[in-house]
Order: sequence, then C-alpha cells, then structure tokens
Amino acid sequence: MKYDEIFARSFSRHDQRRFGYGALVACIIVTCCLCTVFKPYLGPLPVSNLRLTLVDGLKLMMVSERATKPLEAYVEIEETKQICNTSKQRSDSCEMKGDVRIQGNSSTIFVLSSHRKNASWTIKPYARKGDISAMESVTNFTVKVIQEKIETMPTCTKSHNVPAIVFSVGGYAGNNFHAFTDVIIPLYETSREFNREVKFLVANKRSGWTRKFQEVLDKLSRYEIIDIDEGNEVHCFPSMIVGLRKDEGKELYTNSVKDFTRFLRSSYSLERSTAIKLTNDYAKKPRLLIVSRKKTRTFTNVKDVVHAAQDIGFEVVVAEMNANLTQVSRLVNSCDVMMGVHGAGITNMLFLPENGVLIQVVPIGNMDWIANTYFGVPSATMGLKYLEYKINKMESTLIEKYSLNHQVFMDPISIQKKGWDPYKSIYLDKQNVMLNVTRFKDTLSKALELLHS
Ligand SMILES: *[C@@H]1O[C@H](CO)[C@@H](O)[C@H](O)[C@H]1NC(C)=O
Ligand SMILES: *[C@@H]1O[C@H](CO)[C@@H](O)[C@H](O)[C@H]1NC(C)=O
Ligand SMILES: *[C@@H]1O[C@H](CO)[C@@H](O)[C@H](O)[C@H]1NC(C)=O
Ligand SMILES: *[C@@H]1O[C@H](CO)[C@@H](O)[C@H](O)[C@H]1NC(C)=O
Ligand SMILES: *[C@@H]1O[C@H](CO)[C@@H](O)[C@H](O)[C@H]1NC(C)=O
Ligand SMILES: *[C@@H]1O[C@H](CO)[C@@H](O)[C@H](O)[C@H]1NC(C)=O
Repeated sequence: MKYDEIFARSFSRHDQRRFGYGALVACIIVTCCLCTVFKPYLGPLPVSNLRLTLVDGLKLMMVSERATKPLEAYVEIEETKQICNTSKQRSDSCEMKGDVRIQGNSSTIFVLSSHRKNASWTIKPYARKGDISAMESVTNFTVKVIQEKIETMPTCTKSHNVPAIVFSVGGYAGNNFHAFTDVIIPLYETSREFNREVKFLVANKRSGWTRKFQEVLDKLSRYEIIDIDEGNEVHCFPSMIVGLRKDEGKELYTNSVKDFTRFLRSSYSLERSTAIKLTNDYAKKPRLLIVSRKKTRTFTNVKDVVHAAQDIGFEVVVAEMNANLTQVSRLVNSCDVMMGVHGAGITNMLFLPENGVLIQVVPIGNMDWIANTYFGVPSATMGLKYLEYKINKMESTLIEKYSLNHQVFMDPISIQKKGWDPYKSIYLDKQNVMLNVTRFKDTLSKALELLHS
C-alpha cells in the first residue's frame, strides 16, 4: 500500500490538500509509532523508505508547525477518551478531533475512528438540561463514531480548517436573562481558548438573535455564523465541540464572572470599570437607573420614585431595556445604581461598573428563591452590591383584584403548585408595583451609603 493511499484513508480529501506533503510524511512516522492501532492499514512497509522519510519528515515538521497540529489531534482520538460527557448537571457536550463531519439536515455528526467501536450519542446542545419545556424546542444532535470505514461517512461539501462549536439558540434563549445564562456565558467559557479561530454552528436560529449579540459573537469568533439547520451541506472540520460548557447549576456563572464582565465592557467599548466612589463633599452626583417595564410588573408611580431619589441626591434616568445592546450597555454602564422589578431587564446589570449597586424589587408571590438565585447571588459574583426590596401587599396592584385574605396573598405556594402557567398569569403578568416611597427611601439611602464604602 502506498503512502498516499494510507493517507487518503485516514483523512478526507480536503485535509490532504491542507496538510500537504509535510503532514503526509509526519503522518507516516506517527502511524509507525502506533502500528498496533493502524495495523490493518500498514501492510508491508519497506524499512529503507521509512528511514528516508523519517529524516525528511523531521525537517518538514520543524518548518511547518501547523502541519503537525492536526496530526496530534488525530492521534488523540485513538486514545480511549470519552467523546461525550452526559453526566454534567446543566449541559451535555461532546468533544472530538480528527475527521469530523456534520450533516445539518439530519442533525448528525460523524467522527472517524480506527480504534474505538462504533458508538453513538444523542444530545441537545443547550445549557438547561433537565428543564423539559426549555429542551423541547432544542434539536437532538446525534454523534456517530464510525469505525474505520471512511466510505460510510457522508462526503464533505464544505471543508473548514478551524474548529467548530455547535450550539442551539432555541429553548428560552429569546429571553434576555436566558440568552446570557444559557448561551452567551457558556459560549464564552467554551470558545475563548480559541482566540476567535473557531466557527459557530447555530441550531434553532431565531430571527434577530445573532444580530442582537453581534458585538459579543464577533469578539469570540472572527468567522461568519453558520446556520446549521439550513441547506444540505456536509461541513467538515478538524475538531468540534457540540454543546456548551456549563458544569454548575449556578445562574449567570462562569469560572471567572469578572473576566466575563470585563470582556463585555471591551466588546461594547464601555468606559467605566468601577462605579463612582463618593466622598462627603461630592461634586458629581451618582446616577440611578430605574428600569421601567411597559406591559407587566410596571412601576405605577415612577414619578414619585424619581423625586424621592433626586431628593436623596441621585441623578435619575428612567428607561426601558428594549433598545439594542449597544445603547443599553452604554446607558447601564453610565450609571452607578440600577433598580428594577424582578425580570429579564435587570440582567443588564452585567454592564454596570464594578462596585455599583443593584436594587431588585421583589413582587408578591413567593419569589424569594428565584429572585436571589437569578439576580441576587449573580450580582455578588460580578462585584456588585446587592439590595432587595420586598414589596408588601399594599404595594401590589393585586389588591385591586383580590381581597387581602385571598389565597393569592395568603398562600402563593398553593398557586405555584397548580403549575407555571396559572402562577405566571397572576404574579408575573398581572401584577404591577406601587412603591411606598417613604419606605423605599431607606433602600435608596442604603444604596448611597454603599457607594461611599
Ligand atoms: C464529565 O464532566 C464532569 C463534570 O465536569 C466530570 O467530573 C467527569 O469526570 C466528566 N466525565 C468524563 C467521562 O469525562
Ligand atoms: C460501524 O458502522 C459502519 C457504518 O454504519 C459499518 O459499515 C461497520 O460495519 C460498523 N462496524 C462494526 C464493527 O460494527
Ligand atoms: C431526542 O432524543 C431523545 C433521546 O434519545 C428522545 O427521547 C427524543 O424523543 C428525541 N426527540 C426528538 C424530537 O427527536
Ligand atoms: C441531506 O443532504 C444530503 C447531502 O448532504 C442529501 O443527499 C440528502 O438528500 C438531504 N436529505 C434531506 C432529507 O434533504
Ligand atoms: C443600535 O441603535 C443605534 C441607534 O438606533 C444604531 O445607530 C445602531 O446601529 C444600532 N446598533 C445595532 C448593532 O443594531
Ligand atoms: C409607607 O411606609 C411607611 C414606613 O414604613 C409607613 O409608615 C406607611 O404607613 C406606609 N404607607 C402606606 C400607604 O402603606
């Protein structure tokens, strides 16, 4: 068997061209070292020829570092490392190297191996494993390990020479909070090691999503995003990660949240890395952003809140968080304190300068756990100060609809038990907030104090 035949059977056509002669020779050297693995391909290899190519090979490997890289990768797959890890809490993921091909129209990934047995996994590449309604709208991807028989792999129609990451923007990713916690942060964690030399393959693409996060995506990959659900292409890659890294159950979390917020500030060219530090005779006023909502969980007396905050010494901005992220990030970053009713809008605390303050207004409805888990704990890991203001019955517009001794006030847990939809419809969709400004002033004063320390 000739060298190029061995090579042709181990790599796709595209790869041959890319690796060039250097890789071919290098390949043979490694093949010899791994002769147990490659036994069926090797056949009788003349020893004199081998010595000759060894010398050339070493020389070529030294000049062409690039050529040796995919080779190491190819060797790696011969080891017994598990391709898919389905034992993580939040996200299944598979990592593979060598000859990897993805057929979008069947959501199937083929990976060639000469060592392991045929195997396959089915995973959904979205980091909210276990949440049935989120995962419902996420495509199943099947990863198939093909043993030896390259002819059973689909033919490449597009070949790429950088790694790929496959992920879904289905699930809850249309919601700002979930977009960050389920997709953007795990994507950052998974992709930053590639230093933009990676292609993103997106499944369940929804209109406007990639445009909305364009600045961030551009900083993580310098290539155009591929919509993997579209067309009949078979894309071939030297390596691929399917599913995003998220080991822990914590929200808005990565190993270094402060690195992530720094990354966001750089993506959006935001100037302020730390909030104002007040002295007793401050000339510049601290800025308070009141996150307003139009349809649900609205502040009904926002003017009174503005006046109270101005009295205390804030410069006040009231804004809905519905502009594009360039504008939202600028606005949020220009403020020192952000207040809002529990909801996806306050996810934009990600853009606050460090040491800034988040005030979460928590409506009626047994929301302590979700308020703390979604925004309270994460705000601390971002280096923000956190204040919570729990409204009482009199500050909820639900008093206009229900008597004070109604189940809605007396026993929200019983309504939670009826299911998400009835719960959401009462507490999240039909409840507005009329803050008792006298009481709320205490919280605003605390925020001001926190800017002093
Ligand atoms: C899967 O991931 C978990 C969590 O990171 C890790 O503890 C475990 O060792 C991994 N399993 C395999 C087979 O790699
Ligand atoms: C592995 O799968 C391929 C393609 O389905 C098949 O041709 C081959 O015979 C299988 N090998 C084994 C050992 O089952
Ligand atoms: C996705 O895969 C899982 C596990 O194999 C299976 O139970 C489920 O029915 C599949 N869903 C779809 C939509 O194919
Ligand atoms: C999927 O794409 C392949 C080519 O890559 C084509 O042969 C096949 O017919 C397509 N299948 C469907 C269901 O469109
Ligand atoms: C965001 O909105 C501003 C003002 O409307 C516009 O100039 C800018 O192009 C928009 N940016 C993006 C990324 O859409
Ligand atoms: C508002 O809060 C203050 C201080 O807690 C309290 O004295 C007052 O009765 C409250 N006002 C209303 C209308 O509930």
